[in-house]
Amino acid sequence: MLGGVCYVDLFSGNLKRIKEKTPYFKELGINYLHLMPFYKTPASDNDGGYAVSSYRQIDQTIGSIGELKALCRELKRQNISTVADFVINHTSDEHEWAARAKLGEKSFTHFYYMFDDRSIPDEYEKTLREIFPAERQGSFTFYEKLDKWVWTTFHSFQWDLNYSNPEVFNAMAGEMLFLANCGIDILRLDAVAFIWKEMGTSCENLPQAHSIIKAFNAICRIAAPALIFKSEAIVHPDEVKKYIHPDECQLSYNPLLMAVLWTCLASQEVRLLNVSMRKRFEIHPHCAWVNYIRCHDDIGWTFDDTDAQELHIHPYFHRQWLNEFYSGIFEGSFSSGLLFQENLKTGDARISGTAASLAGLEKALAARDEDLITLAIKRILLLHGIIMTIGGIPLIYLGDEIGQLNDYGYQKEPGKAKDSRWVHRPKMDWQKYELRNSDQTVESRIFKGLKKLIDIRKSHKVLSGNEMQVIDTANDHIFGFMRRSQKENYFVFSNFSPSRQNLSMPLVDKPGNKEYFSELITGTQIPVKQDYVMQPYQQIIIF
Ligand code: GLC
Repeated sequence: MLGGVCYVDLFSGNLKRIKEKTPYFKELGINYLHLMPFYKTPASDNDGGYAVSSYRQIDQTIGSIGELKALCRELKRQNISTVADFVINHTSDEHEWAARAKLGEKSFTHFYYMFDDRSIPDEYEKTLREIFPAERQGSFTFYEKLDKWVWTTFHSFQWDLNYSNPEVFNAMAGEMLFLANCGIDILRLDAVAFIWKEMGTSCENLPQAHSIIKAFNAICRIAAPALIFKSEAIVHPDEVKKYIHPDECQLSYNPLLMAVLWTCLASQEVRLLNVSMRKRFEIHPHCAWVNYIRCHDDIGWTFDDTDAQELHIHPYFHRQWLNEFYSGIFEGSFSSGLLFQENLKTGDARISGTAASLAGLEKALAARDEDLITLAIKRILLLHGIIMTIGGIPLIYLGDEIGQLNDYGYQKEPGKAKDSRWVHRPKMDWQKYELRNSDQTVESRIFKGLKKLIDIRKSHKVLSGNEMQVIDTANDHIFGFMRRSQKENYFVFSNFSPSRQNLSMPLVDKPGNKEYFSELITGTQIPVKQDYVMQPYQQIIIF
């Protein structure tokens, strides 16, 4: 499978026009399409659609349930699976349940966590992390009309659902099956880590959260057996893995790979990637990672502290440096990212920016420097080449395939201005897309490079599936791994440095007496027994 993700309104305007884009999805090779939340939401503040006011109504500016069903049918006919969000942790404060709670209807006030005064919230907050600290302090919002404090982990208009009330589970199961009936194939379970609360804990990743997801999953196995789940848990890598199981979430974002790829691109060395992937890539064989470079969210540096310490990397200062590097403050940085949710109390921050802008294309184009442009394109392709070959489902954030740059227009839009993630959610520029087929444009260099990687992946089955073995390349700049197949082993080597690097081929334990490897990106032969000089940011896929 190969995934693509986009916002309906920003990509094509509405659901009908998404349907008209199927030839493009086919051209790119996508057979998994994640449409960002398309539900009814509050008009202005809606967290990019993640404040859902109804699962049974579509945002009227983009379409209707009838059109969603028609789209799912058409995509299915074209062998494309539809992926939609199931935002299980909260609803918007305009959802019917919240509206009825606001009127004081007891059965609905119990759908949420509401407290008469600060005593219990204060007690909880002793052990809670702040998710959007730049916006407000704490995890509770005072709702004046009810004279109550409401649990709001994310924004104040996103009310956390109270799963300790079985009615909430039943109601959400109903919404889930409604979506299954629309023809959705994969539900992306949003913010899974937060759905159970227990005083004295972080209220993240608690065992009951897993039980709730398993219960949703069990219902699907009975009533909608083809529906599967993808977990969105952007937490410590050990916790991410716990959601992945055939009985829980069969798919999961791989935030560790994503974050460490960017880490290595900044530091030009791959030791942290080696350790992280060696220890934390393997998952249940009937499940799959969804590997991505960028998504609609920020990049948080979610590597494990002890992995870093093992390599004498100081986790706190490394994260500080990465933020400086990707926000362009660090001297010599190629990147034009923005800080997201800087926490002045802890010094934490995350990074926003499109893949192209983070990889240096924005600065290179502004400088009109051909060499820098080439390096930026190589970085973009290098990271994509890894997600295409490492195992699992690669997911392309649509727009990245033609090198969409940051769009700073959000800073003037109410409801968006304070959220730097909008910088990497630009409206698709279809004129730029046209350039993907013109000779030697930046767009075509990226598009054709990526398309080549996609074609390689599709024509070599060994590159899908999960099994992957990290190889010690004896060169800290070169990341290497092996994909094993019964016939032949494939090796992927990626040079994370902007200078040439020596790769010792004899490291590759090559059975048989072949004299040459076939290299798939350049279509050339590489002698088995000689060292190979890798060019700046070069990647080779050999067998
Ligand atoms: C998830 C989404 C993010 C959203 C949050 C709250 O992390 O990916 O965009 O802000 O949940 O719904």
